Amino acid sequence: MLNLRVFALLMICALLDVGNLRAQTIIPIETNRNALVLQVAANKDVNVIYFGKKLGNVADYALVPGMYKQAEDYTSSYNSAYTPAGSRNLLEPAIAITHADGNQSLDLKYVSHSVKALSDGVSQLSVVLKDPVYNTAVTLYYKAYFATDVIEQWCTIKNLEKGDITLQKFASANLYLKGDNYWLKQYHGDWAKEMRPEESKLTHGIKTLDTKLGTRANIFQPSVFMVSLGKPATEDEGSVLYGGLEWSSNFKIDFEVDPQDNLRIIAGINNHPSSYKLKASQEFTTPAFWYVLGNSGKGDLSRKVHNWARNYKILDGNGQRRTLLNNWEATFFDFNESRLFELLKDTKKLGVDLFLLDDGWFANKYPRNSDHTGLGDWQENKQKLPNGISSLVKEAQQNGVKFGIWVEPEMVSPKSELYEKHPDWVIKQPKREEYYFRNQLVLDLSNPKVQDFVFGVVDGLFAKNPALAYIKWDCNAVIYNAYSAYLKKDQSQFYVDYTQGLYNVLERLRGKYPTVPMMLCSGGGGRVDYAALQYFTEYWPSDNTDPLERIFIQWDYSYFYPAIASANHVTDWGKQPIKFRTDVAMMGKLGFDIVVSKLGAADLAFCQQAIKNYDAVKDIIWHGDQFRLASPYEGSVASFLYMNKAKASGIMFSYLVNNRYGEKSALPIKITGLDTAKKYRLTEINLYDNAKTSVNSNQIYSGDFLTKVGFNPDINTRRTSVVLKVEEVK
Ligand code: GLA
Repeated sequence: MLNLRVFALLMICALLDVGNLRAQTIIPIETNRNALVLQVAANKDVNVIYFGKKLGNVADYALVPGMYKQAEDYTSSYNSAYTPAGSRNLLEPAIAITHADGNQSLDLKYVSHSVKALSDGVSQLSVVLKDPVYNTAVTLYYKAYFATDVIEQWCTIKNLEKGDITLQKFASANLYLKGDNYWLKQYHGDWAKEMRPEESKLTHGIKTLDTKLGTRANIFQPSVFMVSLGKPATEDEGSVLYGGLEWSSNFKIDFEVDPQDNLRIIAGINNHPSSYKLKASQEFTTPAFWYVLGNSGKGDLSRKVHNWARNYKILDGNGQRRTLLNNWEATFFDFNESRLFELLKDTKKLGVDLFLLDDGWFANKYPRNSDHTGLGDWQENKQKLPNGISSLVKEAQQNGVKFGIWVEPEMVSPKSELYEKHPDWVIKQPKREEYYFRNQLVLDLSNPKVQDFVFGVVDGLFAKNPALAYIKWDCNAVIYNAYSAYLKKDQSQFYVDYTQGLYNVLERLRGKYPTVPMMLCSGGGGRVDYAALQYFTEYWPSDNTDPLERIFIQWDYSYFYPAIASANHVTDWGKQPIKFRTDVAMMGKLGFDIVVSKLGAADLAFCQQAIKNYDAVKDIIWHGDQFRLASPYEGSVASFLYMNKAKASGIMFSYLVNNRYGEKSALPIKITGLDTAKKYRLTEINLYDNAKTSVNSNQIYSGDFLTKVGFNPDINTRRTSVVLKVEEVK
C-alpha cells in the first residue's frame, strides 16, 4: 500500500523543472529496486536516460546523461524510448509506417503522460506521442509491478489520417541499457530438445532472436532470454535482465550494440511477413513485452518472475493442481472402453486425482488410429467408445477420480470429414501442393467461423460432460504455406489475425469455464509464453520425459516459469529407475504416464508412497521459492531446493547427472535459500520400504552451516537421486 503511494507520488514529482539543466520533463518508472527513467528532451523527443537501481533523489536522474562521455550520437536519439523510422534515425527502428500518401517517414514527439494505479502495487504509465507532420499517434504503456520489479511494456498505434496506413514494423518495446559489455543467454531447440541454453557476448551490430513458424512458435527458439551486464551473471551474483514477449506466434527481438556501445533491445511481433494495414481511426495494440532487471544474480530474478507470474499471469497461479495418470505412452492410439476402465481403476490404485485420456478417442469416417487421420472430427469413435465419453466420466466418478481429455482443436487432418466439408477453413496455398507437419494442417483462426468451430469443440465436450475436470490442449503443427481464404487480399495480417483469433477463442472459453485446469501443450514445449498462460494452468515442457534430459530442460524453464506450471510426467523414457523418474517429475506438477499394472509390488508401493509424500510437500513446490543449488551443466550432481516463504519447510532434490565411473557428490552442496538464524533437520523421503539412508535425520544443522558449508546428500551410482525434507527445528 505504502509502496504504491510512494510510487505514485514519485511519478507526480517527476514533472520537474531541473533548473539550469533546461526545462526537461523527467518521467521515472520506479519499482521496489529499480528506476527506468524517461526524459522529454527540449525538442520533445522521449528518450531513456536511466535503467538501473533507483536513486534516492528523483531530480538526480537528470544528471545521469552528463556522466557519460561516449562517442557522438549523430541523431540524439540512439536512446529513443520508441525509435521511429524514416526521419533522422540511423539504427534499428521500433516502428516503421507507410502513410496514406506513400511517405515512409515518422517522427514521434511528446504530447502528455499520465499514471494510474491499477491495483495494490501495480501502476501504469502511459506516454502519448504524436508525429508533428502526419496524423499518427502512439501511446507507450509501462505497467510496473512494484514488489517484483517486473515491467510490462506495449503500445497502441493510432491512425488519425484520412486514408489507410501500413505498419511495416510495430514493436512492443524499445529498451536501452548502458554497460561495458553484454552477455546474451538465449535458448534453442527442436522436438524433445527444448530449452537448450547458449550464452555469448553481444558484439556490435544486431543479434536477432525470432521465429516465423506461426504456431508451435517456440519449438526452435523461445522469446525468453537473459542479458547479463558486464560479465555473465551467476546464480547468486551479477546484473542481469530477463525478458520475453507475451505473444504465441511470430516474434522478433533485436539486440543492437550501438555505435556508442550501449544496448538497444527492440522486441515485438515479427514484422516479417506481417505488415499490418490500419484504416482511418483504427488502432493497433501490440502484445506486451515483460522484463525485469536485477543485480543479485539469475536466481533472485527468477524468484521475482515466479512471484509475478503466479500473482498476475498464470491462470490460478496461486491455486491448486491435480495429480494425474495419462494414457498416451501406455496405449498410444490403441485402446477401447474396457481398456480405459482398467486404467481408471489404476488411477485410483496409484492414488492420483485424475485420469487424462489422450489422443485417439475421436473420428469415425477416418478413425483416429494414427496421427494421419481424423483431426477435426471431434465425435467419439464408436468402435473404441460405443458409450461415448460420458460413460468414461461416469466410470471415473465411480472410481472416485476426476476425468480429463486431450484435444487439438486448431488442427485438421487431410483425411477428415472436416477437411472435406470446409477446405476453405484450412491454411494452405490454393495453387500449391500441401505440405504437412505431423501429417496435418492448421485451421484458419483468422476466420470467425473457424473460431466458433474451435470454441465449439471444447464447449461441446463440456455441454455433454459437465464433470470434465481437465483439458490438455495440443498444437502439433507449424504453419506452412500461410494463406487464409478468409482474409483474401489482406494476407499480410494473417499471422497477427491467427493469433488474435486463438486468443478470442481462449477468452470465450475462459469466460464460460473460468476455472477448469488446462494444459498448454504443443508437441512438447512448442508454445510456452505468458500470453497463452493467462488461459492455462500449466504447460507441457517437452515430450522428452527421460528424467536425465528433464533435469536440464526443467532447470532452464525454471528461470522463467514457476514450478506450479510445469507438468512433469513419470514415463518409461530413459534408463533411470522409477524412483529417479518420480523424483524428477515431483519438481513441478506431478503426473504419470506408465502402465500401472506392469509395476512390480515394490515399485507400485514406492509410487503410492511418493504420491502421498508429494501431497504433503506440493504446496512448497508450487507456492514457495525455488533455488537452483547445483547446475547439471557444471558438475556431476544437480540439485534444486524449494522453500516455503517462511523458510521453515522445504524440499531438496539432488541427482547424479554423470554416470561415469566413480562420479558422486564429492563436495557438500551449499543450501542457499535457508534462514541462517534457524536450525534445520534433513530427512530423506521417497525411499523404498526397508531401504536404508545414509542421511541422519537426528542431526540438527544451523542454517548458517548449511548455507556456508553445505550438506552432502551422498549421491553416488547406488543413490542416483535423493529427496530431502528440510524442516525447521525450534
Ligand atoms: C503431442 C503431445 C503428446 C501427445 C501426442 C498425442 O505429441 O506432446 O503428449 O499428447 O501429441 O498425439
